[in-house]
Amino acid sequence: MEKLTFKVQRYDPDKDKKPSMQVFTIPFRHGMTVLDGLIYIKENIDNTLSFRSSCRMGICGSCGMLINQLPMLACHTPIEELHSDKIEVKSLPNFPIIKDLVADLSPLFEKHKSIKPYIMTAAVAEEIEKPTAEFLQSQEHLEGFVQFAYCVKCGLCMAACPTVATDKHFLGPQPLAQACRYSLDKRDDGAKERFKQTDIPHGVWLCHLAGACSEACPKGVDPALAIQLLKRAMVADGFKLSKKKASPTVAAPLSEKKPKITVPEFTIKKPGAK
Ligand code: FES
Repeated sequence: MEKLTFKVQRYDPDKDKKPSMQVFTIPFRHGMTVLDGLIYIKENIDNTLSFRSSCRMGICGSCGMLINQLPMLACHTPIEELHSDKIEVKSLPNFPIIKDLVADLSPLFEKHKSIKPYIMTAAVAEEIEKPTAEFLQSQEHLEGFVQFAYCVKCGLCMAACPTVATDKHFLGPQPLAQACRYSLDKRDDGAKERFKQTDIPHGVWLCHLAGACSEACPKGVDPALAIQLLKRAMVADGFKLSKKKASPTVAAPLSEKKPKITVPEFTIKKPGAK
């Protein structure tokens, strides 16, 4: 492979009625990613091309786009793994387009905010006011939610979700997975308040477990599993079956030995993962 054909979505809301595709031919370099290709186009062929990126290492979640029909992070997608010299790049589906490949992720952030994605705690107000040490997390409790905490809010799961595609008001996999993540956290007392945000007509019960969100996640998070765990917690809460959470304990002083915490296995295996 010496040359690559990049078919790139172009859209300028000030000039265009609808998006169109533009073709660029660029040289191939071993190890290059889709983001490298877009940067080459911007630096050498057309500096008006708009796309979003920052960390170039799959951490910031800003370079999500539709690459050869699949939602992926451009910086995390080596050209060689696409097994083609033809690359089609569009902005993330299920989101409005700001310009070219830049999707407007504000609907995601608004929904994310609505589920109160932070620890809410009442029982230990004194410790919050005057902290003496960090709150302790046991291995068992950590394993219950830690993978959901790896979310980088890139929006790929929302772009892959068939329910979001047909109902733009559906909360979607990212906010629902985060509702699960915080509600399962031993340090949190806000589950009931969060359940009010997810037990709505466009909330958790609309998920029909297509699983596309978990396939799309570049961080190995399994939002489909999180949504099922959230449903289970909500049903248990509705039937008053949930166990009362003990108040979180504060860690031992730094001089004392802390329990060793290990990171559990992912529930989704990515191709090439060991
Ligand atoms: Fe940060 Fe791709 S540039 S995730």
